[in-house]
Amino acid sequence: MSERVAVFDTTLRDGEQSPGCSMNLEEKLRMARQLDALGVDVIEAGFPIASDDDFAAVREVARMCRRPVIAALCRTTPEDIERGWEALSEAARPRIHTFIATSDIHLQYKLQKSREEVLEMSCNAVRMAKRFTDDVEFSAEDATRSDLDYLCQVIEAVIDEGATVVNIPDTVGYTIPSEYHHIITTLKQKVRNIDRAVISVHCHNDLGLAVANSLAAVAAGARQLECTINGIGERAGNASLEELVMALRVRKDLMPFETGITSEEIFRSSQTLSNITGVHVQPNKAVVGKNAFAHEAGIHQHGVLKNRLTYEIMTPESVGVKTNSIVLGKHSGRHALGKKYEEMGYNLSRPELDKAYKLFTKLADQKKEIFEEDLLAILQDGFAQIPERYKLRAVQATAGTSTLATALVTLNDTKSDDASTGTAAGDGPVNAVYEAIDQLTGLKGSLIDYTVRSITSGTDAVGEVFVHVEFDGTSYTGKAASTDIVDASARAYLNAVNKALYSRERKKALGDEKSPTITAAD
Ligand code: KIV
Ligand code: ZN
Repeated sequence: MSERVAVFDTTLRDGEQSPGCSMNLEEKLRMARQLDALGVDVIEAGFPIASDDDFAAVREVARMCRRPVIAALCRTTPEDIERGWEALSEAARPRIHTFIATSDIHLQYKLQKSREEVLEMSCNAVRMAKRFTDDVEFSAEDATRSDLDYLCQVIEAVIDEGATVVNIPDTVGYTIPSEYHHIITTLKQKVRNIDRAVISVHCHNDLGLAVANSLAAVAAGARQLECTINGIGERAGNASLEELVMALRVRKDLMPFETGITSEEIFRSSQTLSNITGVHVQPNKAVVGKNAFAHEAGIHQHGVLKNRLTYEIMTPESVGVKTNSIVLGKHSGRHALGKKYEEMGYNLSRPELDKAYKLFTKLADQKKEIFEEDLLAILQDGFAQIPERYKLRAVQATAGTSTLATALVTLNDTKSDDASTGTAAGDGPVNAVYEAIDQLTGLKGSLIDYTVRSITSGTDAVGEVFVHVEFDGTSYTGKAASTDIVDASARAYLNAVNKALYSRERKKALGDEKSPTITAAD
């Protein structure tokens, strides 16, 4: 039997720290549900002391996901560990993950502490965490730039205190496979009690080596891989979960290890994340990119037609990629729609199906053929998980090379049940629409990013608009899909407006309780 390597997913913590990838609570819960279905062993759900939002994310993910271990990141201070535990207290399988840097460069410039002090802080943190839970992970931040003898000393000491997992992060993505292999081998040889803990690795991708380094560490004895969906994370990101898992699976002949991942859920996990954040992977991204299974050259196509093994080392089906076949049409009924969603892994409640069906019939009137991607867009678009203060009733925009762009927008205010109409001019039709919405809501948004992409092909394709809008210095994402991109643009912007208003209300409800300020961890 092959040995098991645990998959520790940090999409919701390290991944969420990357620019443009922030998620609200509902989005984190949706992602966590998908990570659970994917079969990850550990979900790192946040850094509770960092903000009330992170605290709530850890608490709610822990309440909802009962199978995987739920980890909360904490520095080594008692306040961090107490707050981490508070967030985890209802978890079925809680893990406190405490970290401190061990490299001289971090000790001197960031922490201004001596090696002895850091050693003591590490031990104190693990000892304290053990009072709350048996499952304690210790990370030696910037381990790969740390003095190896000192790293061994710290790791041995924290295992003596009861750390059950010891993580050796390549925080700045600096190491290379042979060096990382040597570090893990040295720990295995020199740390007296190393057999009492699982060695974990956490690699950043600054030199594009995160996956290669992680696999080298597994060869040397690491048995937990820290990674993220689509490889998102600080700077160049973290090791990508899908690449690690498929490398282990495809090259089992050289790496005889099992993971608990249901590989058929990989593509859906990648898409779920992209749909939430609006950050799409590049077409040539390994395993989940649009071209990962496309054979363009004639000679390749010829080979694949004869036998897929000629140019395919894994099948698209093995990662859950389905060929883009037409699934439903104008005459499909509610029952067929419900069945199709079930096949796609979504069990909709009766009211959800009713809502989806309404959107489906509207789309089927505009578009002859409905694909799985369209059905996904209906779910993403129609099931706004936050209360909608403003709803779009109508939008009309005019533009041209020799006319000023203008827009007329009518919004429903669901709070007062009033409808109001505003007009504005702008640099283009979308800008004019956004100016009109700002007038009507009284919120001044500043558009940071705007992307539109077509979900399916053809002139009647559904277009998805994704925006990042800043209100009072905080950035919110918004998205919507429609066959009309002015309509989608208006609704995407309103989605961000509604999130900003919702977040404001929640903050008010939580009171002015201040959380201590922190420096972000990567
Ligand atoms: O990159 C890193 O060192 C981290 C630790 C907090 C595990 O993210
Ligand atoms: Zn990291």
